[in-house]
Amino acid sequence: SLLLFYVACCVSAENKTSNIERHEARKFPESMLFGAATSSYQIEGGWNEDGKSESIWDDITHMEPCIVLGCHNGDVAADSYHLYKRDVEMIRELGLDVYRFSLSWTRILPTGFPDRINEKGVEYYNNIINELLKYNIQPMITLFHWDLPRKLESLGGWSNSLIVDWFTDYSRIAFELFGDRVKYWITINEPREVCYSGYDYRYNMSGYPDYVCAKMILLAHAKTFHMYDKEYRPTQNGTIGITLSTPFYEPVSEEDAEAAEDVIQFEWGIYANPIFSKSGDFPQSVKEKIAVKSLSQGFPRSRLPAFTPEEIELVKGSSDFLGINHYTTSLVYRNESVNGYYASPSYYDDIGAMIYQDNSWEGSAISSLKVVPWGFYKLLTKIREDYDNPPIYITENGFPTQGGLEDDDRVAYYRKYLDSMLDVIEEGSDIKGYIAWSLMDNFEWNVGYTVKFGLFEVDFESPERTRTPRKAAYVYKEIVRTHTLDF
Ligand code: NOJ
Repeated sequence: SLLLFYVACCVSAENKTSNIERHEARKFPESMLFGAATSSYQIEGGWNEDGKSESIWDDITHMEPCIVLGCHNGDVAADSYHLYKRDVEMIRELGLDVYRFSLSWTRILPTGFPDRINEKGVEYYNNIINELLKYNIQPMITLFHWDLPRKLESLGGWSNSLIVDWFTDYSRIAFELFGDRVKYWITINEPREVCYSGYDYRYNMSGYPDYVCAKMILLAHAKTFHMYDKEYRPTQNGTIGITLSTPFYEPVSEEDAEAAEDVIQFEWGIYANPIFSKSGDFPQSVKEKIAVKSLSQGFPRSRLPAFTPEEIELVKGSSDFLGINHYTTSLVYRNESVNGYYASPSYYDDIGAMIYQDNSWEGSAISSLKVVPWGFYKLLTKIREDYDNPPIYITENGFPTQGGLEDDDRVAYYRKYLDSMLDVIEEGSDIKGYIAWSLMDNFEWNVGYTVKFGLFEVDFESPERTRTPRKAAYVYKEIVRTHTLDF
């Protein structure tokens, strides 16, 4: 019966490819911004140059024995610390409106604190920003894309409540230094990965998901938002939001609808709900489930920290837009007794659901990243309905391969996902921009350089880190130039 339900659910959903079959040309709104994204640790290199201190990723990649696939590290990466002019040239070649990149906290503040500003680091980011603006390309800066100062991690990182001030202090420096020219800010990239996997993976040995981290991220984000809103927006006139990783979860059967909803709330509702819903709080289902599970584990108090009424007021509405990183979809069914998909114990224990993907779905170089464009459609529809149609930037979407310039599967992925995005725009979703991941190949965290997300290939064997456009770069350029998706 499982199988039957699954067939029923997905046959209708897959009809969404009909635009492709009809070979229709479809227009994007004129105001739609197109861009490409990267992040500091993944591209810069120069890990100890010109006064930069270590981040947790310098630490993680230098551990012995190594824990990253192939023992790869970001010491040189795509060498963007030295090649930023070429990077901007690539963005110009693509004709993009926006370049999303992140600041390395330890390049600007080597101690992690604003006691000393590293001029060389500031100069590097000024160079990028000024080079972009010279060609009318808008910088979109992510303040935190995972490379936390090692020193702050040694003080407890995102599970020390003091980080709310550490982050706000650092953000203030960024607004002071760059806010005259930067009009798009993202506070934090993918808190789910920071608190549940990326961060757990190295530092959180408790065996429980770090919900304190989740709360601290929300408070740090909200405080930074209000600081910008009150002190910087009046003169700098920018916009500021947060970026969440938002996979979609489809129930295997109607009976599993609640399980799929629970997974969604645990994965990204826990971050989106406090900011974008009227409650200003963690989702009710998440609060209840963790409390019950905690009790059964012998914790009379929930492992999920509560918000005070003041904190709820602080967090509620603290974003001009929602940044969406989306790649794939999974299927969910209820099973109270199993440990889910990540190593146990994990947050799936707290929800009692199993997650998997259908083997018949088209794959990619990352086994968990399957091509499911109807999931993107359903995700964006759900966000429109649940959070009263917030302004959205798709801050990441992309497809990994094992390499090569003839990346037809990546081209197909972009076409299908953009087609789904056009569907929701037609239905009223407020999508302001689309930013591809990634401008170029880079260090893909625990799998190093073994998978490639770039519109531009980077030759990591050559000291020059030569960049070459792939077929997808040419296709994307045409889409951007014409604001048309042509099949
Ligand atoms: C999400 C992250 O923000 C980015 O750093 C990563 O490389 C991509 N997704 C691809 O996995």
